[in-house]
Amino acid sequence: MAYSSEHDEIPNPLRAGLRGDAVPEPCAVVVFGGSGDLAHRKILPALYNLALNAHLPAAFGVVGVSRSEYTDEQYRAEMREAVGRFSRTQPVQEDVWKDFAAGLRYCAGSFDDPSTYRRLGEVLQELDRTRATRGNRLFYLATPPSTFPVILRNLKDAGLINKDGEGPFTRVVVEKPFGHDLASARELNRLLLQVCDEKQIFRIDHYLGKETVQNLLVFRFANAIFEPVWNRRYVDQVQITAGEELGIEQRGGYYEEAGVLRDMLQNHVLQLLTLTAMEPPVAFDADAVRDEKLKVLRAIVPLDSPEQVRKRLVLGQYREGSVAGMGVPGYQQEKGVAPGSKTPTFVALKLCINNWRWDGVPFYLRSGKRLPKRATEIAVHFSGLPHSLFDNGPTQPNVLIIHVQPEEGITLRFAAKVPGEGYRPRMVSMDFRYGTAFGNSTPEAYERLLLDAMRGDQTLFTRKDEVEAAWRLIDGILQVVERGEGVVPYPYPAGTWGPSEADALLAADGRQWRRL
Ligand code: BG6
Repeated sequence: MAYSSEHDEIPNPLRAGLRGDAVPEPCAVVVFGGSGDLAHRKILPALYNLALNAHLPAAFGVVGVSRSEYTDEQYRAEMREAVGRFSRTQPVQEDVWKDFAAGLRYCAGSFDDPSTYRRLGEVLQELDRTRATRGNRLFYLATPPSTFPVILRNLKDAGLINKDGEGPFTRVVVEKPFGHDLASARELNRLLLQVCDEKQIFRIDHYLGKETVQNLLVFRFANAIFEPVWNRRYVDQVQITAGEELGIEQRGGYYEEAGVLRDMLQNHVLQLLTLTAMEPPVAFDADAVRDEKLKVLRAIVPLDSPEQVRKRLVLGQYREGSVAGMGVPGYQQEKGVAPGSKTPTFVALKLCINNWRWDGVPFYLRSGKRLPKRATEIAVHFSGLPHSLFDNGPTQPNVLIIHVQPEEGITLRFAAKVPGEGYRPRMVSMDFRYGTAFGNSTPEAYERLLLDAMRGDQTLFTRKDEVEAAWRLIDGILQVVERGEGVVPYPYPAGTWGPSEADALLAADGRQWRRL
């Protein structure tokens, strides 16, 4: 792969990071929903890129399972096209693809039919024989959650799930959304734990696969100078934004049920918050990291009364407007959306964390569809000066911004002297950009996550107690919202930063959202 780095002597984590760790053991990845959107757009392109970068074991196979009828050959052709369209690296290297496709199989069948699993068992045995995959299996459930119970039960009945630690490994990757509320998430956990052990379960939140999100851990815990100021003594407030230009695409049916609270807040945005606020873990391993994230979730003051929710939460729903110069319809005009729908597409929320580090520091979160631009960032606003020596120019408090996407990097805003006479301060930026420092070929989140699941590393996957704690928090809010207790989404024109009530939420604290 073409590659350039500003500083050749600096080891390049984007190139070496994944490769630095062990290549996984031989295994077969079974994708339920193998003919679906996720398989086309993300999973197969990610597996191909892992092959391209020599991260996959030589003994490797992939089986797509879906209802659609394909032969192996037809499935390979379809996936070749998907990789051609969606792979982050282009053009597709035909020799790598040929090798990869030789281990690609398809198994047509309905998820509730035991014969599907008998056939799948035969395909897996054939892969063990011809590709030496040694009985190790990674089952990826890229299907709607309603299908999880039936798939898991059938896998178990067909004898395709090994117990943890007994013989070849079996691991199960579960896609988001993990449940619809606390009760359904608990039920799903109960079901998963009936067929396998927590150590075998990999609950995906693809934000954890993003380089810049992982970099939060390195930034905080591989540098000595930030940790001493990362607390209530020096931090005034934290703002986390996950903004999207996109609307709901073709997913009206799903989004009507989910809304922004379930689609983005319960998972991606809370993950950003926990990584920002967590204590240093005792070790860099899956349980130690997840223990600390869980403590943050448990320390968040819940919003469970209608008064609290009304005071600290603003919801919005986009109306017709214009994004990036293009006219776009309102949410209620989207396909699959009910006229008069009250599903929120925007949320702004103030959370407080009751612990020694963060007591009194508000965390303002916002996320929405059809905002003016795609921008995900974490902005740590430091406290102002105790006393200013320079009165001939405004100084604002320092802000440290972690740009998650699309411009991946970190910015520190600080005051500098304007050249010339006198001592006039002005705020300037010190910038680190991933692209400049490490080249532009950042691995896709799914590459990292698939590789970690094959290696059995759960650090970047959510644990049972963590996912339930996140739901507990959102459940309280959902109950108030869904009982209709005075919290309805305010309209905002597509292409704006949400309803003005979101500004009022911060203005009430004498603050404002960072302009993006
Ligand atoms: C998904 C949500 O989990 O994340 C989508 O279901 C959202 O609605 C997407 O658009 C955002 O992901 P990313 O990686 O584009 O920020």
